[in-house]
Amino acid sequence: MVVAVSRWQGGSVAAIVVVRVGMGKKRLVIEAAKNLIQEAIFNKFDPKSISSSPTSPICIADLGCSTGPNTFIAIQYITEAIQIQYQSHNLPTPEFQVFFNDQISNDFNTLFQKLPPNRDYFASGVPGSFHGRLFPRQSLHLVHSSASLHWMSKLPKEITDRNCGAWNKGRIHYVCAPREVVEAYERQYRRELEGFLKARGEEIVGNGLMALQIAAAHDVIDEDEEMHPGKDIEMLGSCLIDMAKLGVVSEEKVDSFNVPMYFPKLKDVKEMLESNEDFTMEQMEALAKDDTSKSSFDLDVEMHVSHLRAAFEGLIEKHFGEAILDQLFDRYTEKVMQFPEMKNFHNRKLVGLFVLLKRK
Ligand SMILES: C[S@@+](CC[C@H](N)C(=O)[O-])C[C@H]1O[C@@H](n2cnc3c(N)ncnc32)[C@H](O)[C@@H]1O
Repeated sequence: MVVAVSRWQGGSVAAIVVVRVGMGKKRLVIEAAKNLIQEAIFNKFDPKSISSSPTSPICIADLGCSTGPNTFIAIQYITEAIQIQYQSHNLPTPEFQVFFNDQISNDFNTLFQKLPPNRDYFASGVPGSFHGRLFPRQSLHLVHSSASLHWMSKLPKEITDRNCGAWNKGRIHYVCAPREVVEAYERQYRRELEGFLKARGEEIVGNGLMALQIAAAHDVIDEDEEMHPGKDIEMLGSCLIDMAKLGVVSEEKVDSFNVPMYFPKLKDVKEMLESNEDFTMEQMEALAKDDTSKSSFDLDVEMHVSHLRAAFEGLIEKHFGEAILDQLFDRYTEKVMQFPEMKNFHNRKLVGLFVLLKRK
């Protein structure tokens, strides 16, 4: 199995690293990101300018940590790289305080139970939305967040207002929706990313780093020919509409349900991050997929549906109740079986971006 890590600087994409590993899709991305984060720490994490005293603890936050194990893997390679960096500056190894953040609904008990027993850091859980402030001013030295920023904390108000041109009737997402709906989602994402950056701008010390993995959509997607990253949400929406037609759920319930997830366009993420006043963008890299390994990314139907169910079940249950869940995901499974390209992530016009920001 092969993953190519491409470097995107000044708009050009050139392959620089190839990682060979035999593991799942998510692990591949972690492995590719590991090299980039460690390289970033060796090049940009300066112990002398970042910390007031070599004996003070280094504070790291993982935002949108879920329940592990990916968060533990990321924190492990971050602390290892910082230790090496201190040694290379002939400084004593620092102590680490790690903050695991996620929404209040996250299962922090499971996270704490799974903490690696031989970890070399002090661990705390921080519940709450990363779109606002979570930490005291200038208290963090490095912030990490992976595969979380495409979740928005709020939906754009316009899309549930039947008197508004952006009313998203008969859909649960912006994929294949009228331009007004897409634009309302885009504006909301922009507001939320700005809120995220403003909060981190206050919390991160001068010269501190923020390493983000962001899911972005290709700049141009022909939705008749190509698969939008949110295609599975659209298909899930079509199952809900079928159920509304059969009277299993009310049409009004479907019209008032929307998924608060947005995949920004590549060029828009670049513009939003570059124009931020608190951070300089040090690096933006695409964690790209190599076309030679297509079949390796092709999950079986059961696995694909169980991933999707894990991501959306809570949201759907809150709006529609538990009773519809099995029928909904059975219908979704049938649709995926009729449209098997859905399962292959190679078909998605999706780019996993690695972004390194430095606090001014
Ligand atoms: C796909 S998981 C990623 C988990 C882990 N970072 C990884 O890379 O495997 C996304 C996580 O982001 C969390 N999340 C979404 N919105 C959030 C917010 N506003 N504040 C904190 N966490 C959030 C979700 O609860 C979920 O646990």
